Amino acid sequence: MPAAESPLLRAARRQPTDFTPVWLMRQAGRYLPEYRAMRERFGFLELCRNPDAAAAVTLEPVDRLGVDAAILFADILLIVEPMGVGLEFARGAGPVVRRPVRSPADVRRLVPVDPLEATPFVFDTVRIVRRALAGRVPLIGFAGAPFTVASYLIEGGASREYLETKSLMHREPAAWHELMDVLVDVTAKYLNGQIAAGAQAVQLFDSWVGALGPDDYREFVLPHSRALVRALTPGVPVIHFGTGTASLLPLMKGAGGDVIGLDWRVDLDEAWARLGSDVAVQGNLDPAALLARPEHFRVRVRAILDRAGGRPGHIFNLGHGVLPQTPVDHVIALVDMVHDMSKR
Ligand code: CP3
Repeated sequence: MPAAESPLLRAARRQPTDFTPVWLMRQAGRYLPEYRAMRERFGFLELCRNPDAAAAVTLEPVDRLGVDAAILFADILLIVEPMGVGLEFARGAGPVVRRPVRSPADVRRLVPVDPLEATPFVFDTVRIVRRALAGRVPLIGFAGAPFTVASYLIEGGASREYLETKSLMHREPAAWHELMDVLVDVTAKYLNGQIAAGAQAVQLFDSWVGALGPDDYREFVLPHSRALVRALTPGVPVIHFGTGTASLLPLMKGAGGDVIGLDWRVDLDEAWARLGSDVAVQGNLDPAALLARPEHFRVRVRAILDRAGGRPGHIFNLGHGVLPQTPVDHVIALVDMVHDMSKR
């Protein structure tokens, strides 16, 4: 099957498909015993930097789950590591940025890297995965959107309130915009490098942008996310994802993307109606639903498919990543369920 005819790429273009395509954010992650075994052998960054190992981790869920896409195994913070901020992944603690960016001088100190030279292993992984997939399913590349990546650079790690981020944004707007410009430039090169190496769609993760209200999104984020989407190689579908974005969805669509990612806090049909029928949607089962047995989450899956109503342009996914404590059997049952229940 030519890649353009795959259900995922057809749905991204709002063309009809025989069933609703499904893949899962974090489908290659800690809930899989094979992933945990890999992590016994490699540190997280070490794994990302080893193309053969990263390709194996990317391919595992495709074989194991029967999903309709592979997503590159990498991380949104790989491109900031060579920018000189001291990125580390401490065991079980998530990412830590040792030298956070909190002032105009810090922004000026960032190294404006060329990803093709700084992260060649990512593009090597893409090439290995494409070859191994041999057209079975398309490969999705990804990057963090400028706001979400900036939030890690500024906070130095995960955050609840994003106060350092908002503080820089409001107190030093020129430095904020300069930081976003740097990230847009590096991220565009990084994603176009993935596309040149073989990624057939790309997802922009603006996971934490829901911390902002619409006016701040309009002023501090939208122009930059839009510049990024416009700088991407034409013809490759872009999935634009965030969480907590109920009030931002039409603005995110304005920034760009062929597919808008929805989290579980919105009803899919209402959100799609607000976005308009000229864009596809992805989502939106609560990842926590998969902690219950398949006979329990079945009703939620059915409800999402009913809200999509079989209209072209729905890609089934969770509203965020698979939780590490999710039983693998439940994930397999979900994929089968979506395929069976959506058959047209
Ligand atoms: O989706 C996939 O299967 C592809 C792989 C992928 C990872 N990170 C692997 C990973 C993707 C798409 C990401 C994106 C990413 N990374 C995001 C956006 C998606 C989201 O979750 O909102 C963010 C915010 C990051 C930054 C990041 N990386 C955090 C906050 C953490 C720690 C939290 C956690 O889940 O452990 C990571 C580490 C990370 N990235 C892991 C994986 C599989 C776990 C690392 C480990 O093995 O211990």
